[in-house]
Amino acid sequence: MRPTFVLRGVRVLDPLSGRDDERRDVWFEDGRLLAIDARIDKGGVAVIDLDASGGRHGAVLSPGFIDLHAHLREPGDPDAETVSSGARAAAAGGFTQVVAMANTDPPIDAPERVAEACAHAGGAAVRVLQVAALSRGLSGSELTDIRGCIAAGAVAISDDGRNAATPRLLVDALRTAGASARAVLVHPEDEEAIAQINNAHGSVVRCAQRPPGTESRAVDLAIRALAHAGAGRLHLQHLSTAESVETLRRARDGGLAVTAEVTPHHLGMWQPVAQPPEPAALLKVNPPLRTEHDRNAMVHALREGVIDAVATDHAPHRRVEKGADYDSAAPGMIGLETALAACITIGGMGGNWLPALVERLTAGPYRALGAGSGVFEPRLHTGEPATCVVFDPDAEWVVGAEPSASRSSNTPLLGERLRGKVLLTLVDGRIAYHDASRLQLAAETAAHA
Ligand code: DOR
Repeated sequence: MRPTFVLRGVRVLDPLSGRDDERRDVWFEDGRLLAIDARIDKGGVAVIDLDASGGRHGAVLSPGFIDLHAHLREPGDPDAETVSSGARAAAAGGFTQVVAMANTDPPIDAPERVAEACAHAGGAAVRVLQVAALSRGLSGSELTDIRGCIAAGAVAISDDGRNAATPRLLVDALRTAGASARAVLVHPEDEEAIAQINNAHGSVVRCAQRPPGTESRAVDLAIRALAHAGAGRLHLQHLSTAESVETLRRARDGGLAVTAEVTPHHLGMWQPVAQPPEPAALLKVNPPLRTEHDRNAMVHALREGVIDAVATDHAPHRRVEKGADYDSAAPGMIGLETALAACITIGGMGGNWLPALVERLTAGPYRALGAGSGVFEPRLHTGEPATCVVFDPDAEWVVGAEPSASRSSNTPLLGERLRGKVLLTLVDGRIAYHDASRLQLAAETAAHA
């Protein structure tokens, strides 16, 4: 459906345009964003008044968010998530573009698989951008056909979930992907060290012991590989330690083309929000939740812009995978629908940090992927079909009180009251998500379906 209405009294945040304007009216006609002005009156067009009152900050309109990191589990585990359900969860979280990781079953590690995945994602509620694996079978031993995968539609290259590639392989990947304007996204956990520490464990992914040093070493190795490659762009995924931030800072000061992301859970859940979730394995995630010191370093680095982006690492798992004992449970938590609210409520990015948060959810991830990669520019363009989000940073809601779009529910935030709610998400002028209980679209708006 392509709606027609005037939004009244919203704050317009558009980081790429340097725009932060309070109390604007915004006119949408058949899903196209036609005008933003101090006052817009269009006879016969429904007005949705979101003007702030009673000391509230008021609703925000911004370009749609970009999630650099989601696991949509198709092919392989449609009971946990499908591209369709994951895309609807993304829309409910205000994301209009979501980057799908390659660690599916089978992995997306060949041009034909990239092409199939892109075709399959065509009808999804939001734009699904597909990553191709760096190594065949994510095993770290043989490079994929990176050029072929990019020609088939891959937006970036990554073995995320694993980090078995040798520095030599990473150098080759950085050079090859870089020649086609694609970043290499690295999951920085040193697998060799993890395997040694957990030597009785059969899986390097599921084992519980993953001390901070295993991340620092992998960050260091990846940055050295970038320096050695002398080309390409490196993106560090889900950083979690204070030491990683310092290594990143030095690399950037030295002029290296490296960007980084942090997840809402590493920003906000250095300890359980209220009480430990049941089962405890809901807190199990790779990399693990760390200390208050680390958590503060992540918040500070995100505020400063040393970390470029918030990315969810949305990792849906079936109940049985999380109900097992901690050691054998699958790592990861869902996060698309709660990302904005988690950052505002427990991630240190509410209040005056809201413009920075919107930047790290739009322009930051866009920069990390790069303009020529296939990602759409997150900017409010008048005269074009709208791809944007409207959210209320003060609205409270309880996670799980209403049905989630995701097929999984593995989040320790279940039952928590959070602040910050997406009201409306438009993709190419169509309604991808609409919170009908908080934002009433008039009947005549619906008539434009
Ligand atoms: O906790 C995690 N789960 N971290 C990852 O990097 C992968 C993810 C998954 O695929 O479940």
